[in-house]
Amino acid sequence: MVDHSSNRFSLCADCLIGFRYNGRFYEGGCVNAFTIRAPDDWHCHLRDGDVLSRTVADQSRYFIRSIVMPNLASPVLTIDDAQAYYQRIMMHVPSGRQWQPCMTLYLTESMDAKTIRMAKQSSYILAVKLYPAGATTRSEFGVSNLSRIEPILSVMEEVDLPLLVHGEVVDDACDIFDREAQFIDRYLQPLVEKFPRLRVVLEHITTQAAVQFVRSSSSNVAATITPHHLLLNRNDLLVGGLKPHHYCLPVLKRSRDQQALIEAAISGYPCFFLGTDSAPHAVDAKESACGCAGIYSAHAALEFYAEVFEQHDALGRLEKFASEYGARFYQLPLNEQRVTLVKASWTVPEQLTFGSDMLVPLFAGQSIGWSVRDIEPVNNKCDKKGKGSASEYDY
Ligand code: DOR
Ligand code: ZN
Repeated sequence: MVDHSSNRFSLCADCLIGFRYNGRFYEGGCVNAFTIRAPDDWHCHLRDGDVLSRTVADQSRYFIRSIVMPNLASPVLTIDDAQAYYQRIMMHVPSGRQWQPCMTLYLTESMDAKTIRMAKQSSYILAVKLYPAGATTRSEFGVSNLSRIEPILSVMEEVDLPLLVHGEVVDDACDIFDREAQFIDRYLQPLVEKFPRLRVVLEHITTQAAVQFVRSSSSNVAATITPHHLLLNRNDLLVGGLKPHHYCLPVLKRSRDQQALIEAAISGYPCFFLGTDSAPHAVDAKESACGCAGIYSAHAALEFYAEVFEQHDALGRLEKFASEYGARFYQLPLNEQRVTLVKASWTVPEQLTFGSDMLVPLFAGQSIGWSVRDIEPVNNKCDKKGKGSASEYDY
């Protein structure tokens, strides 16, 4: 017998086959609705200006916290930049939403120790993002020589401020499909050995090599996994015509890498957690002779993850991946809100408005099997220190 009260799953009366939950097979029905603790997105891009009305509305639908990446045209370099960006974002949160952006600073070779100490003290800057210069969208202000930021990494380790890493080498001689694995071997493994107490997130992992690296590292090292790297592989980018809306960085890899990511996501290891890397670009910037890297998934992020977990008989593990492991890594309270997913298919629009432009979302024109039905609000606060207002500063 299935205990509905403890697993919070409801059954489809029409389905006579059964379903798997927490490793056990239950006869007599499939899951048609389930409720989990509300999730957080530990990696997203909101951009700036008038497009914030799109990105913030989508991000805040059921995520309670989102880490906001700092790679703006004018990057988020200082505490003041982060505060100003935070305020611009908050102006676009639809009323009644409980969502909070968690801010990051963009690491440059001229970052100073005082900024790191102030960031640690601020109530809503959560981490610092490392972009190897030239690796991806708006990474030109990033780091060319990692040895130059070692004094800053040392301060981050001392004050315990996490480092978020775009893990790809920038090397013309290195094949684009090998850039993540090469970054791990050449730079990241030595870095975590040199700074063993530094908390590090290898963002948007794409390879078997990255999964193995994170698994074999200490609990100070974790990784985010995106919905698009779980749902797609490089055939979805390159076979039957080039698909610019499936182009992102790190680029989609082989099917066997995709399988390794799926196994990691559903594994129940707390070092792997949700981070969408939802990264919108206007349709013209994608459908171009030199198209931008980035896939927009914020319109249906949790629904995408639910598809993947369901396909692999792992719906019972979605909650920990989406709503628990990330918060534990960042030493933040778990959300008290709950969201309910319902087996109700819907079709993703072909395009969405994006300021004065349009964007093409992930799975445009395709059907998704899950819908988020409702979010049960509670009155919890979610800034770094659990304090009343994220507009407070402590420095
Ligand atoms: O695909 C990507 N898009 N990868 C990144 O690292 C950056 C992001 C963006 O900002 O567009
Ligand atoms: Zn990103």
